Amino acid sequence: MSAVEAGVVAAVTSASVVREVVAGLPAYDPGADPDAVAACSGTAHVIKLSNNESPFGCSPLATEAVRRRLDSSVSRYPDPTGRRLAEAIGERLAVPAERIVLGNGSENILELLCQAVLDPGDLVTTQAPGFSLHEIFPRMVGARVEKVPVTAAFGFDPSAWRDALAAGPKLIFLANPCNPTGAILSIGELEHLVAETPQSALLVLDEAYCEFARPDPSYPDGLAVLREQHRPWIVLRTFSKAYGLAGVRVGYGVASDDALVEALDRVRAPYNVNQLAQDAAVAALGDHAHLAETVRRTGVEIVRVADRLREAGFRVAPSSANFVFIDTGHRSDWVAQELHRLGIVVKAWREPGYETFIRASLSLPEDNDFFVRCLMRICAEGEQ
Ligand SMILES: Cc1ncc(COP(=O)(O)O)c(C=O)c1O
Repeated sequence: MSAVEAGVVAAVTSASVVREVVAGLPAYDPGADPDAVAACSGTAHVIKLSNNESPFGCSPLATEAVRRRLDSSVSRYPDPTGRRLAEAIGERLAVPAERIVLGNGSENILELLCQAVLDPGDLVTTQAPGFSLHEIFPRMVGARVEKVPVTAAFGFDPSAWRDALAAGPKLIFLANPCNPTGAILSIGELEHLVAETPQSALLVLDEAYCEFARPDPSYPDGLAVLREQHRPWIVLRTFSKAYGLAGVRVGYGVASDDALVEALDRVRAPYNVNQLAQDAAVAALGDHAHLAETVRRTGVEIVRVADRLREAGFRVAPSSANFVFIDTGHRSDWVAQELHRLGIVVKAWREPGYETFIRASLSLPEDNDFFVRCLMRICAEGEQ
């Protein structure tokens, strides 16, 4: 028997070496484990609506590119500069490849930005409800986070933002479309935000869902707006959503100037984007038809599903993305739990003021219909 087991000395755990800000961080909630939901529901067909993934998969050209790489040279480290992918993106967007930053998902770039830009105590402004990593990563480096509430209609609140920006943030994280609401900032609202943002701050426009919103004529091209600005900014995009490549992890940023790219290069791991992901992204970028079809089918479903939910009496945020944010009128954790029993995984929202909301990604039509039917039944019966 050891001395610890005998109760002679107290065990020292690693908690004593963990930084205080890390101990106090909220945990990222990836949603319930589909295997656990399969076990609790007894169904093999789990409908995963928790991570805003594409039900239409990725381009077959991307699959082929990964296969080719697996057959040839995975014994080599990836290209640390991601040159081919950066050039392909740069050409598509008419920006120099040197201004493209690549990440292991765009979340990697969110983290790198915090490491490169923020000192402990700096202020970060973001929106509520919002994407949790817009809060977690700044707090990880000891920054303070102020969240600007959306309006009652889930929209951008110009006067609340004016006040928040006047407080002098060092960095602004804003998603357009917004996650979890799916609502968009119009061109006027984006220009207002840009005009009010102090020149000393870095404006981060997170466009993870931009491909879905583009067909909406009121959705602004963030890059077109920001490239006219002589101030620090970065536009973030990802291959995880409309391109259907969430599993391989690749996202990118278009930066305002060389100094920001150099700073991010200094803090990033040299091989942060693996070669399979780089190859898949180059191939996916070239498959216009696959992207167009994904966006078209998502656009049909978002209207259909949101209409059905509204007809059933639910309040649903106006979404231009691939998910819906629904006020269920019941505790979100309870609703999510009941859906799990039926083999459906959604994200229960827990931010103050939104504890009765769930966020559900769109899937294939028959799965979306099953979800809507289940939600209606659960909410009609209510919590006993
Ligand atoms: C608004 C927003 N930004 C960034 C991300 C990160 O995406 P990824 O790291 O897969 O590129 C997500 C993922 O859900 C998101 O919703």
